Amino acid sequence: MRWKPKDAVAVVTGASSGIGRCLCELLCQQGANVVAVARRAERIASLQESVGQGTIIPIVGDITEEVVRKRIVEAAADTRGGEVDLLVNNAGIGAIGPFADATPERLRRVMEVNFFAPAELTRELIPHLRRGRESVICNISSVLGHRAVADKSEYCASKFALHGWSDSLRAELALDGIQVTLISPSTTRSDFFDSLIETDSEQQSASVGSWPPERVAKKTLSAIRARRSEVILSFAGKALVYGDRIAPPLMNAILARRRP
Ligand SMILES: NC(=O)c1ccc[n+]([C@@H]2O[C@H](COP(=O)([O-])OP(=O)(O)OC[C@H]3O[C@@H](n4cnc5c(N)ncnc54)[C@H](OP(=O)(O)O)[C@@H]3O)[C@@H](O)[C@H]2O)c1
Repeated sequence: MRWKPKDAVAVVTGASSGIGRCLCELLCQQGANVVAVARRAERIASLQESVGQGTIIPIVGDITEEVVRKRIVEAAADTRGGEVDLLVNNAGIGAIGPFADATPERLRRVMEVNFFAPAELTRELIPHLRRGRESVICNISSVLGHRAVADKSEYCASKFALHGWSDSLRAELALDGIQVTLISPSTTRSDFFDSLIETDSEQQSASVGSWPPERVAKKTLSAIRARRSEVILSFAGKALVYGDRIAPPLMNAILARRRP
């Protein structure tokens, strides 16, 4: 059975910009009720103006705070008698620069936002997702959750953690009828690179092409509707991931040459 947005109850984190914002708009246009979460209140408020049939239920706050996650769960559960049909763990941050030069706080913060917060939010929503219709937990990872690169050690670690945890969770929740969909975008033209933490402004991110967030959101919603297990979105992303599986030393040599 396919996942259907009409009258669905969805939670989307990182709803104020980029992929998450586009996904909220698409879900609402297709009739879903979306609990939209992010810290920037004015951005979430403006989201309400740009949606169609569905509704936006705004939650302003930091997902690493337990009290904020509690508000998210309450808002979602109140929408349709405790049933929740979709959770998109999308909020994420990055950092660029050598691990040895960085602080312990950089590692902690990236892991808190990109891994621990989505894991705990998911734990809290599972009882509600069990009661939902064809429920899906969609984790927005990265191609860097399949193949790590230099100078993004904290980010790669967080996305590898999200990947491994998603695979375990998928196996655990299969009998409950909950699908876990792992989406791995490549470089996306969002606010992401303006929000890097503890990163020297000289640092650059090497990439082969980039996608607009609208395209990533559209492909993500298609994967959710089809209840896919895992999707690597771009051709360059597939080349990186499958090339690494087939010939890791060759990929190491290619990536070493591309280091800025
Ligand atoms: N951009 C890329 O090249 C790329 C590539 C592969 C994967 N991804 C992944 O795609 C996801 C979305 O990124 P994006 O490209 O759309 O970047 P973005 O435009 O920077 O969006 C990130 C979102 O996360 C929210 N967020 C960050 N920290 C938060 C926190 N502690 N609590 C609540 N919300 C928080 C931000 O909102 P506030 O600041 O308002 O809180 C924002 O809405 C991330 O998981 C990222 O790792 C991105």
